[in-house]
Amino acid sequence: MEEQTPIARRVAQAFRERFGGEPRVAVAPGRVNLMGEHTDYNDGFVLPVAIDRHVVVAFSPNPDHRLRGYSLDLDDEGNRRLDEPRPRSDWLDYVAGVAWSLQQDGISLDGMNLVVGADLPMGAGLGSSAALELAAARAFMADRAWDAERAAEQARRAENDFVGVPCGIMDQMSVALSEPGHGLLIDCRGHGYTRIPLPEDIVIVVLDTATRRALREGRYQERRASCERAASLLGVKALRDATREEMERLPEALRRLALHVSEENERTCSMAEALAGDDRASMSELMARSHASLRDGFEVSTPALDRMVEIASAHPRAIGARMTGAGFGGCAVALVAVEGVESFVAEVGRAYAEDTGRGGVLFACRPSGGARVVE
Ligand code: GLA
Repeated sequence: MEEQTPIARRVAQAFRERFGGEPRVAVAPGRVNLMGEHTDYNDGFVLPVAIDRHVVVAFSPNPDHRLRGYSLDLDDEGNRRLDEPRPRSDWLDYVAGVAWSLQQDGISLDGMNLVVGADLPMGAGLGSSAALELAAARAFMADRAWDAERAAEQARRAENDFVGVPCGIMDQMSVALSEPGHGLLIDCRGHGYTRIPLPEDIVIVVLDTATRRALREGRYQERRASCERAASLLGVKALRDATREEMERLPEALRRLALHVSEENERTCSMAEALAGDDRASMSELMARSHASLRDGFEVSTPALDRMVEIASAHPRAIGARMTGAGFGGCAVALVAVEGVESFVAEVGRAYAEDTGRGGVLFACRPSGGARVVE
């Protein structure tokens, strides 16, 4: 068993105090996406990396077919039947949704007592929903064969069809399937993937702007619906299937979205090559272009994200920076030369705070493994 992190110990202790007895512990990482934004639901390519910040679930089965949960971060309890068919718009929906999804596949489950906690910022665009789903899935499946690919699909179905957020497959695959030291190049049509080794002397830094926007709020859904409309106007299954020449014929607003998707798909494959070949000039250029396209073409960036990316990119130790995740607030990501990480984190954090009056949170992270039972 791997060594316990402070958050895993804290969550296990909270479980003992609340429910008594010795729990088991499942963890699932957050993720940052290095390239491929708003491409997954267009059957395109993405390149996420799981990070060493986790959602932790301490759990033990109960015989009465109920979910009895407590969230350490929200200081909130939840209690419902395992087979309750509808969400209640709270954090326990993600666990109940996974139970629902597993049962859809004919898997019979026991009830579960659980405590949830995290050292991963929640709702910041770092895949926290997927991390909670996959940690819950790992807990439910603790004594059964674990099929990470299938679990990613089941978790995505929980989020789409139970919680009601129409996300793509990126987060769940990254959180389920990642391995330490690697990114995951995913072909979101067919869900094939390749593990991309990351250069050891490049550090991934997450730059949290301390601004938030929930996926439930609707702008993500709007973008997704527009992409589907563009694909249907072009007579293709998904935007992945259209050429740029064809996209040029779309009405202006849809054209900009479609061109972003097409170019971002190419950038994602190029980024995988740049990382595998340690080609820093290409990484830098691809990240800059991706951010510009998300800002001006797909229009999901914000002034806070733009400012964070400008400051980070201008730092002498930065290799490149861009917003990451759905956008509308949340986090950017930077690649930084290992020998300059400490000065990068301190100086970019200070400059962002002086500039915006907001305390951004910057942290370096390591490419980690996917969801697992640790105790
Ligand atoms: C969110 C969704 C993902 C993906 C990104 C944008 O993180 O959960 O499926 O669409 O936004 O790239």
